[in-house]
Amino acid sequence: EMRSFVDRLMAQMTLAEKIGQLTLLTSDWVSTGPTLRAGYKEDIAAGKVGAIFNAHSVAYTRELQKLAVEGTRLKIPLLFGYDVIHGHRTMFPISLGEAASWDLEAIEKSARISAIEGAAEGLHWTYAPMVDISRDPRWGRVSEGAGEDTYLGSRIAEARVKGFQGKRIGDTDSLLATVKHFAAYGAPQAGRDYSTVDMSMRELREVYLPPYKAAVDAGAATVMTSFNELDGVPASGSSFLLTDVLRKEWGFKGFVVTDYTSINEMIPHGFSKDEKQAGEQAINAGVDMDMQGAVYLNHLAKSVAEGKVSQQTIDDAVRRVLEMKYRLGLFQDPYRFSDAKREKANVMTPAFLEAARDVARKSMVLLKNQNDVLPLAASAKRIALIGPLADSKADMIGSWAGQGSRTRPISLLEGIRARAAKGVTVNYAKGASYQFADAGKTDGFAEAMAAAKDADVIVAAMGEYWDMTGEAASRTDLNLPGNQEALLKELKTLGKPIVLVLLSGRPNTIPWAADNVDAILEAWYPGTMAGTAVADVLFGDYNPSGKLPMTFPRSVGQVPIFYSMKNTGRPYTAEKQGQKYLSRYLDSSNSPQWPFGHGLSYTRFTYSTVTIDKTVIRPGEALTATVTLTNSGKRAGTEIVQLYTRDLVGSVTRPVKELKGFQKIALKPGESRRVTFRVSDKDLAFYRQDMSWGAEPGEFELFVGGTSDLPVGVKFSLAE
Ligand code: IFM
Repeated sequence: EMRSFVDRLMAQMTLAEKIGQLTLLTSDWVSTGPTLRAGYKEDIAAGKVGAIFNAHSVAYTRELQKLAVEGTRLKIPLLFGYDVIHGHRTMFPISLGEAASWDLEAIEKSARISAIEGAAEGLHWTYAPMVDISRDPRWGRVSEGAGEDTYLGSRIAEARVKGFQGKRIGDTDSLLATVKHFAAYGAPQAGRDYSTVDMSMRELREVYLPPYKAAVDAGAATVMTSFNELDGVPASGSSFLLTDVLRKEWGFKGFVVTDYTSINEMIPHGFSKDEKQAGEQAINAGVDMDMQGAVYLNHLAKSVAEGKVSQQTIDDAVRRVLEMKYRLGLFQDPYRFSDAKREKANVMTPAFLEAARDVARKSMVLLKNQNDVLPLAASAKRIALIGPLADSKADMIGSWAGQGSRTRPISLLEGIRARAAKGVTVNYAKGASYQFADAGKTDGFAEAMAAAKDADVIVAAMGEYWDMTGEAASRTDLNLPGNQEALLKELKTLGKPIVLVLLSGRPNTIPWAADNVDAILEAWYPGTMAGTAVADVLFGDYNPSGKLPMTFPRSVGQVPIFYSMKNTGRPYTAEKQGQKYLSRYLDSSNSPQWPFGHGLSYTRFTYSTVTIDKTVIRPGEALTATVTLTNSGKRAGTEIVQLYTRDLVGSVTRPVKELKGFQKIALKPGESRRVTFRVSDKDLAFYRQDMSWGAEPGEFELFVGGTSDLPVGVKFSLAE
């Protein structure tokens, strides 16, 4: 039925009308780049536009939809897209924070709620999930992804696609998902946004591509290209990526949209001589829709006339776009997502806010907790709350917060004051600044010292300002910006316990704080319910369970550093301390500040030794690894139990560890649970030397624990 409807429609369309369907323009509101066309409303009415982004609200989308369905010859409805990334109105933690929860259900729910809110405002389509693996915290966009690991990133990609798209494309509480940025955008040279990406085919296929594939397999309706080049070819001009991999290998049936003006940007890349050629390269490579660049609109008809682009290529792209509109039900009712009642009923409901609070708590990672300083003791009657992020609302929702209000979030000060028991005083002083330019200043220090002087505990809320991560926000230095660390050092002289609540969108390098403060809680940017969620954790109403989705380096000099590195021919091991001519630094240890998978709890978890039911498996078989996890502390808590494997000898060298599974286990004090993992030869597969996919017989090691830093594993082998 869909096919014949689209056939009939396409039979009536002129080339100009077809090109219109491949054109996506922004509304009045522009986000991250230049507006190349004024007069988008006239363009809509002239049938030159198939989709609009950055327009939301029922009233606005209705107004624009009317121009398309009443003003144009064929009345083809518009598609409305928007960056609904980690919430629309109700803001959840930034995506990297959510990833630290390792909680696929909670992550799916967060995307579900975001879709409900977005779709209630007339939107059809979100530019999420961002699934770019990144191992370089200098890159500001690590805040938008799920971190460094392929396996975790793939599971989270699936959860987000399911959450956004809901039960079925076309339900009015769902948004089309966009897996982005295809491909390998998270590996720019030197961590500088938009920079060159160059890597081996093996690394691309094994580490970077699987999360996109997982999202496609989960049904993602659309794919967004990336700004970077890969092996010398900009992604928007890459037929290898867009046709060979995406369509032929993966069987992707949806449509491909560019990231903003990435077609136009192929000119400065040095890949296209002018816009017309860039457009030809893009559509011939497999780009269906041109976001904001208006290259297709301005040049494609000529390219077709000259025979540089075939009519078939245009038709294939148009069909994909029209089919998506059909699946959304827009031909039946172009306004079906624009319902004022639904809009009103679905904004920041108490249930949405409660869900945001819950995901925020789940995302927090307790990095350090010396002498069990946290949770705050009942005897802590005077709390000094210090720092530029202590009374901030705007920062709490991080970057890419869409329509999230920057005045609505609950600040830490509000959340902590609301929770503190009667008789507990919370003395607040900003004290320091997170602005780069304020690095040498000390003007707020006296006020902070006065506020902290009589305190029982100092809670320092420090980190980065919200726009310091996200797009075009790369850094060469990952320390606490401004004069924050200098203030921490001053506060330390008071000899009181210090808790650092770190609010940031990336792993920071904080070696001084790591050694000198008592407790560190990575809270990321927690979202609308920030203050309440942080208070829940600080006061022990919620026992933290987050685990790092990305390694925290000691210094930028160690970057890229990630848990699944290779061993080298000259590994620097504990027995060889101090020796030269080994793979090591002269001025730093090799180990990170905190490894991937690390995160403490207010209780203690103990692991038994791992046992396996078979020491040899054959192709097609699986073994079961078992560990007994015990909550040997005094509080109920949740542990994220992680399974890693290592392939000891391969036709190509293998990482020292690879995550292959995880489970979130909640235990009461004193309770134990047997946790089992199944490992089959499929889990051991990789791209072998000849680039075929599969496992190789030989010896393996298996590790189970609450972090990636697990020195002792159990051996097994895969037989021929
Ligand atoms: O979705 C984004 C993308 O991540 C960065 N460039 C702009 C797009 C649309 O706003």
